[in-house]
Amino acid sequence: MAESLADYEQLAATALSRSVHDFVAGGSGAETTLRLNRAALDALTVTPRVLAGVDEPDTSTTLLGTELTMPVAVAPMAYQRLLHPDGELLLAQAAADAGIPYVISTLSSYPLEKIAAIAPSWFQLYWLRDRGLVDALVERAVTAGCQALMVTVDVPVMGRRLRDVRNSFTLPPSVVAANLVDMVTEAHSEVPGLSAVAAHTASAFDPSFGWRDLEWLRSRCPIPLLVKGILDPRDASRAVAAGADGVVVSNHGGRQFDGAPASIDALGPIVDAVGNDCTVLLDSGVRSGTDALKALASGASAVLVGRPLLWALAVEAVDEALGLLRHELRDAMLLAGCADLAAVAELTTGRTPWQI
Ligand code: FNR
Repeated sequence: MAESLADYEQLAATALSRSVHDFVAGGSGAETTLRLNRAALDALTVTPRVLAGVDEPDTSTTLLGTELTMPVAVAPMAYQRLLHPDGELLLAQAAADAGIPYVISTLSSYPLEKIAAIAPSWFQLYWLRDRGLVDALVERAVTAGCQALMVTVDVPVMGRRLRDVRNSFTLPPSVVAANLVDMVTEAHSEVPGLSAVAAHTASAFDPSFGWRDLEWLRSRCPIPLLVKGILDPRDASRAVAAGADGVVVSNHGGRQFDGAPASIDALGPIVDAVGNDCTVLLDSGVRSGTDALKALASGASAVLVGRPLLWALAVEAVDEALGLLRHELRDAMLLAGCADLAAVAELTTGRTPWQI
């Protein structure tokens, strides 16, 4: 039994092989950005308000037309059958039961239609070399009833995840990119220094993805469009100019450009640049309701949570994990004197001079 969302990593460690654990836990390069995400969230302070007379805080919100019981969505994460045979199906069901969006990865190990039939979902798109395939994926997601499209822009190539290289990490035969089977070649599978997953990515992903392509995508996409993986306010402004309805301030959980700033440090300038023009979400390092409150107090409308939910999936505790997160956020709001999320947005944030 976990006492906090962060506990699931410990619980899952015994249930998983070393290589699967490292695939989920790891970051790219020297894992500097991975560590920074936590250090920056820990160093951020939020000054609580008192005598607010709050009995039961209201954690609900609406994001891009989707009603949420709390300002949280399940981050898009590939290959969830690595963690549990029912993978995406189990996590999507838990998200639906918790009343929050589940974001289906392009690299989901069940077909997107099967997942979207379980839960009202969003679809995450990777830009693929085959434009026809991109078009087909968008159409499939829309037809399946996905409520938003989230295009990821921080993976021109996969960051080098040294743990995967050292572990010679490969996907077991039972785990495939179910949306793409038969559609991509294995041309790069023998590239030295790439893990098998990175090689697969290299063969399928198109590093030449640019702003014109984003505009094209906007014209093809009849549902709200979010751009995930933005850290510079200039890029946020360009995304809005290209028609994005939202941006996700993210460094991909420290898995892409090692040396990138912590997402929470990149958030403020982006909110200043585009906060009035689009929805701003944040991910990377959120491990508790208090972390979520810190992001909301810093201007985000909601957070995506990644790894903790994969750890919970590995021990069949995703319902419990989402319940705990809601509980943690509710407690944090009570302790900070906030009746609702509008009050959270009014809190004052700072940075502790102490090393945590
Ligand atoms: C990811 N992430 C990711 N992002 C994306 O846009 N498409 C994807 O398929 C994946 N796959 C994926 C797999 C695994 C195992 C992890 C850990 C992450 C990144 C993810 O959406 C999110 O940005 C980070 O995980 C957020 O950081 P935390 O919460 O894990 O620290």
